[in-house]
Amino acid sequence: MSLDFTGQIVAVTGAATGFGRAIARRFAQHGARVFATDIDPTGLAETADHPNITQHVLDLTDRPAVGAWIAQVEHAAGASIGILVNNAGGVIGRTMQPIEDTPFGDWDAVLRINLDAGFTVTRAAVPGMKRAGRGRIINISSGAGLKASRTGVQAYTSAKHAVIGLTRQLAQELGPFGITVNAIAPGLFPVAPGPIAQWEGYGPEGQQRVLDGIALRRMGSADDIAKAALFFASDLADYVTGQVLPVNGGSS
Ligand SMILES: NC(=O)c1ccc[n+]([C@@H]2O[C@H](COP(=O)([O-])OP(=O)(O)OC[C@H]3O[C@@H](n4cnc5c(N)ncnc54)[C@H](O)[C@@H]3O)[C@@H](O)[C@H]2O)c1
Repeated sequence: MSLDFTGQIVAVTGAATGFGRAIARRFAQHGARVFATDIDPTGLAETADHPNITQHVLDLTDRPAVGAWIAQVEHAAGASIGILVNNAGGVIGRTMQPIEDTPFGDWDAVLRINLDAGFTVTRAAVPGMKRAGRGRIINISSGAGLKASRTGVQAYTSAKHAVIGLTRQLAQELGPFGITVNAIAPGLFPVAPGPIAQWEGYGPEGQQRVLDGIALRRMGSADDIAKAALFFASDLADYVTGQVLPVNGGSS
């Protein structure tokens, strides 16, 4: 039983900010060799300010490029990926629009990064995990994967629910190969531009209402999500798969 990840190969998507950055840094601090990716080169470079973190700029909606990245990681590491964190996502600039006014392109774009990207990365990483006879896949869903979202963005809620479905299905499929698949469902964390804008949009009274609905009466930090990811990746979670862990300070 240990939180020492020395020698382990970790891949983290959406690592330029927020949760992804905290997750990459945590694993690196605990000794893992971390391969971090994002579409944002500036934020990613900041995250990679640790000797254990290797960065690669990538648009995760580019399927062939995703496959090439996973192959590159395995080649550079000389081993398969042991821990995969599918974190990239978000509302990518979209806000609530009535369904009849929502452009199909917005629906497609939000599903592509929140659902398809995780599927594509996992699809590419699983053969190596199967060869190794072990793997940990951690999907970042959302409170919006368990109930309607305050964002009102239909595609976001749909995608985050689907991430939980995919997590449960893959846990069944991959369990016989020694691979666990779990999801984290964060509440609202103003730790990246999208959620910061959402938080600021509430104004002081709206923010107070949100806080009053949180049992611990404070907002969480990105590191709270990183710690949950460490748990799922660690020996502590050896017998845990297909599960969803809400990390939200006890939100109602
Ligand atoms: N922060 C919150 O309140 C909150 C709550 C619940 C769930 N989440 C989820 O947690 C994850 C991380 O969110 P966050 O708030 O830390 O940051 P975020 O929402 O800003 O996005 C994470 C990263 O994904 C990257 N990304 C977007 N499109 C991409 C693409 N096509 N290719 C590669 N990378 C791309 C972004 O550049 C960004 O660095 C997301 O999946 C988000 O939906 C966040």
